[in-house]
Amino acid sequence: MAYYDKIAGKWHSTTGYRGGALKDLVLNNLIIDKVPSVAGRSILEVGAGNGYFLPLLLSRFSGQVPAKIVVSDASGALLKIAQRSFHLKGAEYRIIDLRRPMPFDDGSFDLVLSIMVFNEIPDRPLKCALSECRRVMSDDGLLLVASLHPDFVNSLARRKLLRPRENGALTMPGSGDLRLPVVQRSLRRYEDLLEGSGLQFTSEAVYATEEVLHAKPALRQIGKVPLACVFTCSRVRTAWLRNRSGLGRSRATPAAPSRNRRPPGVSQS
Ligand SMILES: C[S@@+](CC[C@H](N)C(=O)[O-])C[C@H]1O[C@@H](n2cnc3c(N)ncnc32)[C@H](O)[C@@H]1O
Repeated sequence: MAYYDKIAGKWHSTTGYRGGALKDLVLNNLIIDKVPSVAGRSILEVGAGNGYFLPLLLSRFSGQVPAKIVVSDASGALLKIAQRSFHLKGAEYRIIDLRRPMPFDDGSFDLVLSIMVFNEIPDRPLKCALSECRRVMSDDGLLLVASLHPDFVNSLARRKLLRPRENGALTMPGSGDLRLPVVQRSLRRYEDLLEGSGLQFTSEAVYATEEVLHAKPALRQIGKVPLACVFTCSRVRTAWLRNRSGLGRSRATPAAPSRNRRPPGVSQS
């Protein structure tokens, strides 16, 4: 049974309709801003959790119709919640464990999304996940990855907030009283894994804004540490990536100020 099957209900009730404070106030818009269009595009989200993100993305592009949408996660319980709470007409909901090859043809997707998933997957399965993401992307496709920033995970370790599980893996404190799986790896290791999978990428560090710190005062204790990193990846060196500095290596830029919009018809729980 996937770990998240056990905590699915609680995960949904604590992260709600916009994924929690950091995502709501910073990360969701930062990721959505990187998507040029969804019209006629095939979209795959891996590790989609309760499925809150794609409705937000689609509401930004209201009027545009994607060719295909696949919402996936290793947890069947979370996928059921996604279908019930964030149902997207015409979308496929599929149990996909990133530790194994994905059931899609090469080049099937123009946009692949992975939000706060890879920081839970150890190196070996992550290599499989990344090479599969690359394989299922179209030549001009985009892979957007948000992960916990290694500096943030290290700050938790320094404060002795990481705990070992029975299987030797680590957990960290999550929303509410949840504990979530986490892997400690350096930014350099993320970059090596992305490069090793043949992906071109840029990366940026994401910091808490004042609004986030107001919503989550405990984050003030860690000081000026980036909370997340976002990797914008493609199979080939696109003009879009070529025009940005730091190709293939990290670039630390504070996140742009957020725009706190709710999707139509969906209220914050
Ligand atoms: C921290 S949650 C993030 C969920 C969602 N993306 C969000 O941002 O709210 C991590 C998600 O990754 C999924 N996950 C963890 N390991 C996975 C794997 N090997 N394959 C697919 N999904 C996985 C979990 O089931 C969970 O839904």
